[in-house]
Amino acid sequence: MTDDATDDGHEGWTDGPIGLPAPPPLGEAALPAGSYDGRVVLVTGGGTGLGKAIAAEFARLGASLVVASRKPEHLAAAEEALAPLGPVRTVACDIRDADQIATAFDVAVEAFGLPDVLVNNAAANFPSPAEDLSPNAWRTVVDITLNGTYLCSREFARRHLEARTPGSIVNVGASYAWTGGPGFAHSAAAKAGVKNLVETLAVEWGPYGIQVNGLVPGLVPHEDMTADIVDNLARNRSNAASQPALRVGLPRELGWAATFLASPYGAFISGHTLVVDGANWQRRHLTNPPVTTVRDQLGRGPFASEGPTPRPA
Ligand code: HXC
Ligand code: NAP
Repeated sequence: MTDDATDDGHEGWTDGPIGLPAPPPLGEAALPAGSYDGRVVLVTGGGTGLGKAIAAEFARLGASLVVASRKPEHLAAAEEALAPLGPVRTVACDIRDADQIATAFDVAVEAFGLPDVLVNNAAANFPSPAEDLSPNAWRTVVDITLNGTYLCSREFARRHLEARTPGSIVNVGASYAWTGGPGFAHSAAAKAGVKNLVETLAVEWGPYGIQVNGLVPGLVPHEDMTADIVDNLARNRSNAASQPALRVGLPRELGWAATFLASPYGAFISGHTLVVDGANWQRRHLTNPPVTTVRDQLGRGPFASEGPTPRPA
């Protein structure tokens, strides 16, 4: 796998394709300095990968951050990366549990006040042929990705409705919400639910001043990716060459998009899901590369109904 956005894998292409330009360097802001001064932003899963990058962009613009996730090492990583940028508070929270979510909001209120922005970034995923998923594997991914997103949104909205204050929710999704996701049936179905939820909640809660949008990353490799996902991406000779942009996305590009959506400049955008993927998800044709089964793509042997659910070595 490469996370070099400019490694386009097209060594032979000396004329013609140039791909989409690289973004500005890390640390540049897309919004005026101080756009989030005095604002509180809660990011689920903000100790790793895209959540951490999104949190960092809010912090650079002046936000006070609350990061909620399960693992102490991820919360420590959030603290280390974000504390130099501004005030940050971390809280252990499994977003499958409504009581833990309520506690996380209590911690946020005590530290900085009711979050103005909720970024539902946390999700669960691993590649698997659909027929190999155990019932609990299916339930786990849907529970974290879809139910967790709903439960956090619910807590955020109930507190704002009670306080009669406006707020903004950004739900991080995935483009297989529209296309289906062979090899990721659980996550794709859950993300389709997340996208649908954006549309429902934006209408229900708009009158109360709550904006709800989705944000879909394209392929954005990062150092925190789980081993399963890394292995899956490593099967591609060049991830950049598989993108119409001839490059992968960079985590900060999601941060710029999220900070825009939840900013005053995006205030009239609601119920929308913004895809930041260099047009990769539209890349479908009537003819495609030869079909390989998901089992073959994942290097699995033939299906066997007996025995434990096959897991990668
Ligand atoms: C098959 C698996 C499995 C795997 C877990 N299970 N991993 N089945 N293949 N690789 C099964 C288990 O056997 C169990 O079922 C059930 O799932 C629950 O597993 P637990 O380990 O008990 O669950 P839990 O501790 O809650 O962990 C959740 C997790 C884990 C999703 C399984 O991977 C995790 O914590 N991930 C965190 C972050 C993450 O997923 N990030 C990816 C986001 S990236 P049984 O039947 O045995 O009880 C993304 C898009 C990326 O979403 C797109 C890239 C291109
Ligand atoms: P990641 O680094 O694996 O992040 C997932 C985060 O979710 C982790 O910080 C994890 O923290 C948290 N999390 C998982 N289960 C949780 C739970 N039950 N309660 C609370 N937190 C939980 O993955 P990522 O690539 O940054 O993905 C971030 C978002 O982008 C996800 O919504 C993902 O679907 C989406 N996305 C990413 C890509 C990509 O190319 N990277 C592409 C499409 C969509 P803990 O382990 O500490 O709980």
